[in-house]
Amino acid sequence: MSDEPFHILAFSGSLRQHSFNSGLLRAAQQVTPDHVVIEIHHLGDIPLYDADVEAAGVPEPVRAFAEKIRAADAVLIATPEYNYSFPGVLKNAIDWVSRPAVQTPLRRKPVAIMGAAGGQWGTVRAQLHLRQVLASAIEAYTLVKPEVMVPRAGSVFDDHGNLEDDDVRDRVRALVEALVDWARRLEDE
Ligand SMILES: Cc1cc2nc3c(=O)[nH]c(=O)nc-3n(C[C@H](O)[C@H](O)[C@H](O)COP(=O)(O)O)c2cc1C
Repeated sequence: MSDEPFHILAFSGSLRQHSFNSGLLRAAQQVTPDHVVIEIHHLGDIPLYDADVEAAGVPEPVRAFAEKIRAADAVLIATPEYNYSFPGVLKNAIDWVSRPAVQTPLRRKPVAIMGAAGGQWGTVRAQLHLRQVLASAIEAYTLVKPEVMVPRAGSVFDDHGNLEDDDVRDRVRALVEALVDWARRLEDE
């Protein structure tokens, strides 16, 4: 095993300041095992995908995001659910880094997903769509289990989007541990 910490790049599909999903990522940072670092990358500066813009030159925020994914040992995504799917912010970011111009850094990258939503299904539909995109189109190595879906998120996060529930925190810890374990096993193959 390398002396370098295991590096996870994390991003949230919500841009809002007090987002529950961004809070889920901060909770993951608080329960990371020793020798694991989770870096949170904000997607707010990624422009809308436009093939003309891409042809003129990949925008710097996209290039920087792609570089961070490439350098990471694994990726952790927290997705909200918007209208039974994952948000356009997330799809747009994935679309940009799916392009040959940035050499599709998510391809064969170990990826874990989780999500928090206001509704009772806790992002189950959003996660299914996201899994389909990541596994089928992007060919990311998407971790199947454990599944972390947080329903009625308003009851387990405070007004600043900080997680207040130990059971959810334990499930986030289990997901991060499973991601690290799985990515290391993939590396060894
Ligand atoms: C456009 C839009 C659509 C939404 N659709 C759903 C939905 O289908 N299911 C659900 O549980 N919540 C839905 N919600 C509520 C979100 O779960 C809630 O806003 C949640 O806090 C978003 O995550 P965030 O806190 O990370 O921003 C929707 C919210 C928005 C803005």
